[in-house]
Amino acid sequence: MHRRRFLKYSLSACLPAGLVRQTVSAAEPQHQATDAALLPEPRLPVGSALPSLSVLKNESSHAGEFQGTLIARECDIQLTRDTGPTRCQVYNNQLPGPLIELEAGMKVTITFINQLKEATTVHWHGLPVPSSQDGGPEDPIAPGETRVYRFTLPEDISGSYWYHPHPLTGASAQIAKGLAGPIIIRHPDEALKKLPEQHWVISDLRLDSQGQIPENTYSDWVDGREGEQVLINGKRQPRIHLTGQHRLRVWNLCSARYLQLSLPGAQWLVVGSDGGLTEKVSQPQTSVLLAPGERLELLVQGESQHYALNLLPYNRHRMMSPPAEVASVIADIDFTPQSAPVKPGQELRRIEALPPGNNPLRAMMSEKMADIMKNKASGIPPKGAFLINGKSFDVNRMDLHSIAEQVDNWQIINATTMDHPFHIHGGQFQVVQRSLRGVKSSPDYLIWKDTINLQPGEVVMLRMRQTSPGMRMYHCHIIEHEELGMMGNLMVS
Ligand code: C2O
Ligand code: CU
Ligand code: CU
Repeated sequence: MHRRRFLKYSLSACLPAGLVRQTVSAAEPQHQATDAALLPEPRLPVGSALPSLSVLKNESSHAGEFQGTLIARECDIQLTRDTGPTRCQVYNNQLPGPLIELEAGMKVTITFINQLKEATTVHWHGLPVPSSQDGGPEDPIAPGETRVYRFTLPEDISGSYWYHPHPLTGASAQIAKGLAGPIIIRHPDEALKKLPEQHWVISDLRLDSQGQIPENTYSDWVDGREGEQVLINGKRQPRIHLTGQHRLRVWNLCSARYLQLSLPGAQWLVVGSDGGLTEKVSQPQTSVLLAPGERLELLVQGESQHYALNLLPYNRHRMMSPPAEVASVIADIDFTPQSAPVKPGQELRRIEALPPGNNPLRAMMSEKMADIMKNKASGIPPKGAFLINGKSFDVNRMDLHSIAEQVDNWQIINATTMDHPFHIHGGQFQVVQRSLRGVKSSPDYLIWKDTINLQPGEVVMLRMRQTSPGMRMYHCHIIEHEELGMMGNLMVS
């Protein structure tokens, strides 16, 4: 019986539809539903061991080459104990999609097969791939079509990235149903190469009483959708074993959920961000924040014991729903410290500061509150409720201009009442200065990023060098806002 249960619930694998369900009684903790319409919401079982991510097979036998196949399809996955299987949309039958492990300088060929009933794309979030291979909304893959994405990675790249759909419409539903997966790029000269790694791909999921993934509500569209169940590598509240110092790579693949992570009793050392290792190891921190789309690399500093991985409430000033007030536990960690070779303040890498460029680019995020509030009856806010530089996204309109290999000086302004994570396609940027409520601050050391959160009223100055010509999007990474048009086009020549 135990073995059967293990098999049944430890693999997020595709099941034939109509599988006869076994009733398993389990003591599930009571939960508070946030929306009465979702009652009674079936919960995913807790307490399984954290599964390691399945890795996308390299079909090439040539050194320096990666060839893989991704298939997007609908798939029934047995996630809960109380309902039938959940109809998901996933890559290669897995939730989350398989880990793509690459090396700097590799020639990458990904054959993508769209077996969905709708158009999609595969976007390589954070990677400096040619515009024509970046899976933007201008380049949809029709149902049934196969598309080969090809790019060569730079020699000096490393870090944790991800892939997800980016169609003009449907991105929000596709990601909510499971289409997203992680990427790691390793470099032979990287510091911390000898540390063992562990990977936490954090996503969230909402299920209705039938165990199915419902459509967005009006407040999902306005606030960004947060699934009630927070998953790590596809599991709810898994049990994690950490023996000795590990390099934890953490991804926030949620559409809108902010992850403020803390381990009461222990501390984090931040060693990496969106674009790989930071210049040096941070001082110990009691909590770290990952906005949607962001990644971090962390070490745990603590005594030998059991820790609860807490999601602390973070007030992102949602318009429709009140801020969360209580912390929740998303994993249980058994930690056994051994020698800790990596210390706070230690140098990890030299990052060359980008020089100031002479192309000023400005992106001001704004919202039309009246439009947002008046459209409730239609179920979806009108396009034009969330804007950049006063405009809603138009795939055929170029909004800003840049020249490849030159440095752009970006000024990003959040003129709205909510937080928004701002993301630019085409590679990584450096933060020069932030200013919030009249207080200016500059980072103490350099890191590479591709997504940065702005609080209401915040202004951020960035430097970024686009490496190749073509069209690049910049947008809010709350997927619902992106889909509602909080996005613009940068034309790089
Ligand atoms: Cu994660 Cu436009 O992308
Ligand atoms: Cu992106
Ligand atoms: Cu937003």
